[in-house]
Amino acid sequence: MTANIYIGLMSGTSLDGIDAVAVRFTPDCHIIASHSEPFPSDLKQQILRLTQPGDREIDLMGQIDIQLGELFSHSVMQLLQKNGLKAESIAAIGSHGQTIRHRPEHGFTLQIGDPNIIAERTGITTIADFRRRDMAAAGQGAPLVPAFHQAMLHNPDMDRVLLNIGGMANITHLPQDPTKAISGFDTGPGNILLDAWINEIKGLPFDKDGAWASSGKINSALLNDLLSLDYFQEAPPKSTGREQFNLAWLQNTLATHQDIANKDVQRTLLELTAATIADALNKYVNCDQYDLFVCGGGSRNHQLTQRIQDLLPNVVMQTSDKAGIDADWMEAAAFAWLAKCCLGGSCGNAPSVTGAKGNRILGAIYQA
Ligand SMILES: Nc1ncnc2c1ncn2[C@@H]1O[C@H](COP(=O)(O)OP(=O)(O)O)[C@@H](O)[C@H]1O
Ligand SMILES: [Mg+2]
Repeated sequence: MTANIYIGLMSGTSLDGIDAVAVRFTPDCHIIASHSEPFPSDLKQQILRLTQPGDREIDLMGQIDIQLGELFSHSVMQLLQKNGLKAESIAAIGSHGQTIRHRPEHGFTLQIGDPNIIAERTGITTIADFRRRDMAAAGQGAPLVPAFHQAMLHNPDMDRVLLNIGGMANITHLPQDPTKAISGFDTGPGNILLDAWINEIKGLPFDKDGAWASSGKINSALLNDLLSLDYFQEAPPKSTGREQFNLAWLQNTLATHQDIANKDVQRTLLELTAATIADALNKYVNCDQYDLFVCGGGSRNHQLTQRIQDLLPNVVMQTSDKAGIDADWMEAAAFAWLAKCCLGGSCGNAPSVTGAKGNRILGAIYQA
C-alpha cells in the first residue's frame, strides 16, 4: 500500500486542545478524518505558566515537552483507531507543536511537544519545527498557513481573503492575478483576550457565541487606550502572541480606568478584536472586491463575526467551509500539507508574508 495520507497536528495559542486531521491531497485538500483532544486543565495551566518568564523554566519545559509529545501521539492513535486508519497508510505527521514563546523581534520562536516521542509511539515519520527555518532566513516564522491557502484556495476569478480567528487573528490575501504576491499577517488578538477575561471573572474557558459580550456596552475610553498599542499601527510583515496580548496587559490598561462593569470590558474586547481585524482588511487588502472566508474557533462566535460584518458592509463574509475547507480544521490541515512539502523537498513558506529572504523547505524530519 502506498502511504498517501498526511496527518496534521495543531494546538494554537488558545490552549483549547489538539486538533488532529488526516488529509488526502489529490492535489485538492480532502480531510478524511478528524479528532480533537482537549488539554487536561492542569496541563493547560502549566503551559500557560511557560508562556511567561518564570522560575525553573527549563525543567518545566522539559517535563511539558514530554507530556505534550505523549498527548500528541495519543491524539494520532485516537484519530487512526476511531476512523479505521492504519499507520502504514500515513506518509507523515506534521506537528506544529505548542508555542511557548514567539519573539520574532529577536529571531526566536519555540514550539514544544517532542517529535521523537511522536515518531516512536506512532511508528510514523514526524515533521516538526516548521517555523525556525523561515526565521533563520530573516522571516517572522509566521503566519505559515498563507502558502497552504494559496496552494488550495486560490481563485483565478476573484480575490480571496482568509481570516483565521484563533487565539490570535491572522489574514491571508490571495489576489486573483497569480503574478501578484500574496500577503498576510497577524492582525492582533483573536479570541485570546475574550477567553482570558471571561476566565478571570467567571471561570469559563470562553464566551459562548459572545453572549456575555453582547450583554455589555463598549467603553470608548478603554477601547481607544487598547487601540493605541504600537502593534496595531506597525506595517506588515508582523506576527504576535501571548507575549503581547495577555491578561496582565489587559489588567494594566484597566488599572488606569475606573468603574467599568465586567461585561462592558468583555464587550469592549470583542470590539477591539473586530475593529483591528476590519482595520487591517481595509488598510492592506488593496482590491475593489474580494470574498472573505473565516475559519478558526472565533468563526463560531456569532457576535464577533456579525460585528466584523457590520464594520465591512461591502464584503461577502462566509465560513471557509464554503470554499471547501472546514473552518474547524483549516490550521491542522495546513500542517499536514507542510509535512507533505517537507517530505517532497518543496518550499512551505510565503516570503511575501513572513518577510523571509526566500522560499525555504520548512521542518525537521524524525524518521519512523
Ligand atoms: N461557540 C463559540 N463561541 C465563542 N467562541 C468560540 C466558540 N467555539 C470556539 N470558540 C473560540 O475559539 C477558540 C479556539 O479557537 P482555535 O481556532 O482552536 O484557536 P487556536 O488556534 O488558538 O487554538 C476558543 O478558545 C474560543 O475562544
Ligand atoms: Mg485550538
